[in-house]
Amino acid sequence: MYTFLKDKILDERGREVMMNWEIPIMKEHAKIVTKNGGDILEIGFGMGICSNFIQKAKINTHTIIEINDQIFKRLLKWAKDKPNVIPIKGDWFNNIPENQKYDGIMHDTWKEKNYKSLYQIIPTILKPKGIFTYYTPDTREVIKHNSKTKYKWGTVNITKINVNPPIKKMNYKYFTRKDYYVPKITID
Ligand SMILES: C[S@@+](CC[C@H](N)C(=O)[O-])C[C@H]1O[C@@H](n2cnc3c(N)ncnc32)[C@H](O)[C@@H]1O
Repeated sequence: MYTFLKDKILDERGREVMMNWEIPIMKEHAKIVTKNGGDILEIGFGMGICSNFIQKAKINTHTIIEINDQIFKRLLKWAKDKPNVIPIKGDWFNNIPENQKYDGIMHDTWKEKNYKSLYQIIPTILKPKGIFTYYTPDTREVIKHNSKTKYKWGTVNITKINVNPPIKKMNYKYFTRKDYYVPKITID
C-alpha cells in the first residue's frame, strides 16, 4: 500500500514515488505539453501536480492513464469537477484509446517496463505538430543522444530548470542534481 503525505507519496518500501520539490519541473512539462492546446494525454497521475497545471491551460480534453488502484481513486475524486478529464485505469501500454490522436503527450511513470514501445507508439498517436514531453533524470547530452537514436521522428528542444531536491531526506535518491532538463519533442 502507498502512503500519501502532504509533500510526497511513498511506496510499500518507503521509497518516494513522487515529491513536491518537483513542482517547478511539472509546471514546465505542463506548459510544454499544452502549447498547442487541444487534446492532451497524460500518463501517470501521481500527486496530480502536472495534472493541475495542465488544467489551468486552454485545452479541449485531458485523458489521464493511471495504473495504481489507490492513486486512481484519488484521480477519480480530483476529476469530479473537471468535465474535460477522461480517467483511464491501467497500464498505458494496453490502455491508450483506439483511433485517438493527441496534440500533446506527457509521460511520467514509475518502474516503467515499456520504454522501448513508448518510443515507437508515441509518434503513431501524435497529431501533426504534436508535442511529446517526459519526466527524465537524464542530462542534456543524454537527451540529445536519445533524440538522435530513439526519437528520430521528432525535433528536440531542451529547457533547463534549477531544482533543489531534499537529497539528505530522501530514502530513494532518484534525483540528486540541481539541474533538470525538460525535453520537448515535436513531431516532424
Ligand atoms: C512519478 S508519479 C507521476 C507524478 C505526476 N507527474 C505528478 O505531477 O504528480 C508516477 C505515476 O505513474 C503511475 N504509473 C506507473 N506505471 C504506470 C503505467 N505503466 N501506466 C500508467 N501509470 C503508471 C504511478 O502509479 C504513479 O501514479
